[in-house]
Amino acid sequence: MNLLKKSLTALTICAAAAGATLVQAAPVELKFAHVVAENTPKGQMAIKFRDLVAERLAGKVEVKVFPNSQLFGDNKVLEAMLLGDVQMAAPSLSKFQKYTKSLQLFDLPFLFKDMAAVERFQSGPTGQEMLGSLKKKGLIGLGYLHNGMKQLSANDPLRTPADASGKKFRIMTSDVLQAQFEAVKGVPLKKPFSEVFTLLQTKAIDGQENTWSNIYSKKFFEVQPYITESNHGVLDYLVVTSTEFWMGLDEDVRSELSKALNEAIAHGNAIAAQKAEDDKQAIADSGRSEILMLTDAERQQWVDAMKPVWAQFASEVGQKNIDAAVASNK
Ligand code: SIN
Repeated sequence: MNLLKKSLTALTICAAAAGATLVQAAPVELKFAHVVAENTPKGQMAIKFRDLVAERLAGKVEVKVFPNSQLFGDNKVLEAMLLGDVQMAAPSLSKFQKYTKSLQLFDLPFLFKDMAAVERFQSGPTGQEMLGSLKKKGLIGLGYLHNGMKQLSANDPLRTPADASGKKFRIMTSDVLQAQFEAVKGVPLKKPFSEVFTLLQTKAIDGQENTWSNIYSKKFFEVQPYITESNHGVLDYLVVTSTEFWMGLDEDVRSELSKALNEAIAHGNAIAAQKAEDDKQAIADSGRSEILMLTDAERQQWVDAMKPVWAQFASEVGQKNIDAAVASNK
């Protein structure tokens, strides 16, 4: 190499070294997509997570939250995650059946008596083991998040299973929920959350099942004159990311993100119960929808009609998992 060439090479190396100290790496972008409104437990959890990360990992990670199905609906979000188009989401536990059968457990009707039982199960050994059920599919379950117990809403009063006969109900993409409505001779239709209001408003369907916070924040109560407080099932979430994204992060960043996420989930869980109470009250105060309370005998009819669904799915979800869930009711 002649002298000129040598000097030029040396200059290039120096310039590159100087540049490296001046140019800062762009922060990792973490897109968090969900389908509900911001004034819900999930909406609030995502905002808390974004804010904690902004405080603790400024310049390293930036969380961008996309609520209200702005980026992806729940039926597309997991595919998009595997393609690297979104990094975090918290779909309802009912929306994972393409990836694992075991989480279908949470859809079994009348399995958990209340949210305290759900919490005991999720934090116990079986619930924790289920967090890993998506591993083979390239996804990591980072934690459960509560919304609450589901209620039934419809154009006509639903007091007994006979009232549901022949009626069209929107359901999430879950075969268990399909079997649940078929058990009362209803007609279940799997539809995205973003379409529910219009389907109800145009009377293309007769009813749906959801939590108080979703019924309130998405205004379903304005187009459903009756809501039965059935508490017949749970609607909770799994906060999920892709293995490729998560394991590609520096260890210290991953550990800070984990801490922030756990705090955000604790925040979401802490407000979920109160939110359910407040939103139920707001619906009652609106006068748009009548809230029907079931007698013990009426409720028992729903239990008797729907509970055979457990046996239908026992081999898919695992009898030992069902037993552990039942034990959490004590
Ligand atoms: C959600 O709470 O994320 C949506 C639930 C639904 O699809 O009904």
